[in-house]
Amino acid sequence: MKTLKEFNVADKRVLVRCDFNVPLDEKGNISDDFRIRQTLPTIKYLIEQKAKIILMCHLGEPKGQVVPELKLDKVAEKIAEYLNCPIAKEDDCVGLEVEEQSKKLKAGHILLLENLRFHKEETDNDPAFAKKLSFLGDIYVNDAFGVCHRANASVALLPKLLPSCAGLLLEKEIVSLDRVMKSPEKPMLAIIGGAKVETKAKFIDNISAAADFVIISGLIAKEVAEKNIEFKFPEKIVKPVGDLGALDITDESIKIFQEKISQAKTILWNGPFGKYEDKLYEKGTLAIAEAIAGSGAFSVVGGGETVEFVTKKGMIDKFSHVSTGGGAMLAYLGGEKLPGMEALG
Ligand code: 3PG
Repeated sequence: MKTLKEFNVADKRVLVRCDFNVPLDEKGNISDDFRIRQTLPTIKYLIEQKAKIILMCHLGEPKGQVVPELKLDKVAEKIAEYLNCPIAKEDDCVGLEVEEQSKKLKAGHILLLENLRFHKEETDNDPAFAKKLSFLGDIYVNDAFGVCHRANASVALLPKLLPSCAGLLLEKEIVSLDRVMKSPEKPMLAIIGGAKVETKAKFIDNISAAADFVIISGLIAKEVAEKNIEFKFPEKIVKPVGDLGALDITDESIKIFQEKISQAKTILWNGPFGKYEDKLYEKGTLAIAEAIAGSGAFSVVGGGETVEFVTKKGMIDKFSHVSTGGGAMLAYLGGEKLPGMEALG
């Protein structure tokens, strides 16, 4: 896989697939701009290198319709605010008018295309749609780790039509996740919270091969018992003590988990514990977050709910790497091949 710094991007139209799929509040404002902030290094680098920058992304699930609430004006405003420079925004992401604008773009300037998923061809992985997108750029950059598990046209097909590479964020994600998975300093501890064991079983088995211990949530442990699921490395699994369906983990469980965390040199955490969104039951998840933050271990945190929790607690900077990928991170660490990464070669 080539990386951005291997390319001479000066004066070239650089098409960057970003993951600006950010949560919106009831007024349509961005409630968490973590993913936007994480993409800034790539955009700043391209500005410095005098590239003509064309950003594209999806927001929500408009299912091929133009949904006014999912237009990207707020995203454009947010990027402009962080970079302190104007951002041009198109009303569409393909077509003659957009092509025209892409050609007029000046070096160091930024153009944001409208929501890719307003065209259903994006999620249909339509080759003709990828072709239309390819007319907008000279070089393709994938900086959207969070979408790499989707076989979408802008992710899986477009890179095959242009010289392509990974952006700085995608590169950072891969390096950090590989450090956990392929060459972890031992002891390595994985902490897997949340529920829905079906979506996590493969991930837990795969991560267990690299980890010395795997802490799982009560809900996962309960489901495993009820559904007679067998893990590949049952001897590495550590579960909470007490009622597995409880709204929070017990003090005794917290103590056991804290001890494991304090011994670890590498920690991967995905998924909260119990009914963490209710202040009354956040004690366990908070204790885990604080123990990891204070451990000194190389720590990687990921998953929508987990990242939301540490953001709310003002702890986002306390971990070595916070992944922008939810499903993508589970898929990657589960050993799956991600279409977006495969397409980069
Ligand atoms: C995400 O939010 O995890 C990514 O942007 C992918 O979005 P999707 O699940 O709607 O495909």
